[in-house]
Amino acid sequence: MCTLIKTLKRISLLCFTIVLMTSTAIRSQEMDHSSMGNPTDETQDQDTMEKMNGNRDGDEMAVMKGKMIFSMSCVYCHGSRGEGDGAASMFLGPYSHPRPNNFTSGIFKFRSTESGELPLLSDLMRTIREGIPGYMPSFRNMGEEGLRAVALYIAKAFIQADLPTTTSIKYVKHVGPYIYSPQSVRRGEILYGIMKCNECHGADGKAGRTDLRDERKLMVHPIDLTRQETFGNGTSHEDIYRTIMTGLDGTPMPGYSDLFKGEEDSAWDLVHYILSLQGR
Ligand code: HEC
Ligand code: HEC
Repeated sequence: MCTLIKTLKRISLLCFTIVLMTSTAIRSQEMDHSSMGNPTDETQDQDTMEKMNGNRDGDEMAVMKGKMIFSMSCVYCHGSRGEGDGAASMFLGPYSHPRPNNFTSGIFKFRSTESGELPLLSDLMRTIREGIPGYMPSFRNMGEEGLRAVALYIAKAFIQADLPTTTSIKYVKHVGPYIYSPQSVRRGEILYGIMKCNECHGADGKAGRTDLRDERKLMVHPIDLTRQETFGNGTSHEDIYRTIMTGLDGTPMPGYSDLFKGEEDSAWDLVHYILSLQGR
């Protein structure tokens, strides 16, 4: 038992050192604050979105730079082949979700595209920039160029397919009758029942089902919707809207873009209901 505790301590020290090394290495890279706002800004204008996600001159160089970044900062968790089997990966959650996913499977949780589709380059960049609370550090300090380089490397080396440059999901503006109001929260509460979110997340949002598995057969629990710190895909209004529309591929959390087609505005009601559960 004692040895087990010692090993565990050594492992957490290792993880901590990796994260520390990584962030120091990245901090020394250039900072670039070019705007890469949230996906609502990105996707409202098709042209801007295509430009952001399309090819650019010098991308081959960027892929090489991305390879360096990956082997320095990501490989411990994600593995040199991008299969999610890096040395530290098995300590993240040996028997349960999430573990670093297998990039070569093409299954991505955090997208702004339809369920079953590959992510946009800007989706990969957002995940790497923001990190995943509790599981992956933020690499914001890398700057937009570094983020783009490592995202390009993941696409080229592991996904090995052209990423989409636009999405058919509509990201409508958060304005008009759909700003936060008690009426909107009430409508959202009704939707929550009609759309059967409660079957997994529980009537009070505090997670219900314990029998779910991800695509690797690892146990996965529906997120406790009352605790925003457990959200992996971001906690802003726009982030939650995106999660609901796209779902989290590879997990039982379905995408609802089909159900909201033509009525995208009402997804804000559901977002507001979730925010109300968090007292926000
Ligand atoms: C401390 C371990 C750790 C490090 C270091 C790390 N990651 Fe991750 N990463 C994870 C875990 C765990 C997940 C899966 C989290 C989940 O599914 O909620 C993940 C998920 C991702 C995803 C999202 C995949 C999806 O399903 O949408 C991307 C992209 C990613 N990592 C890229 C990177 C890059 C690039 C680096 C290095 C710059 C990096 N990660 C460093 C642990 C790490
Ligand atoms: C079949 C079960 C199931 C249903 C139905 C379901 N969810 Fe989920 N949901 C999950 C699971 C499982 C997760 C956690 C996935 C993970 O941790 O990777 C999740 C995660 C989430 C998250 C957090 C995402 C993040 O950032 O980490 C939100 C928000 C969410 N669900 C909202 C909803 C809403 C709103 C509905 C109804 C419209 C709904 N869910 C219906 C299973 C479900």
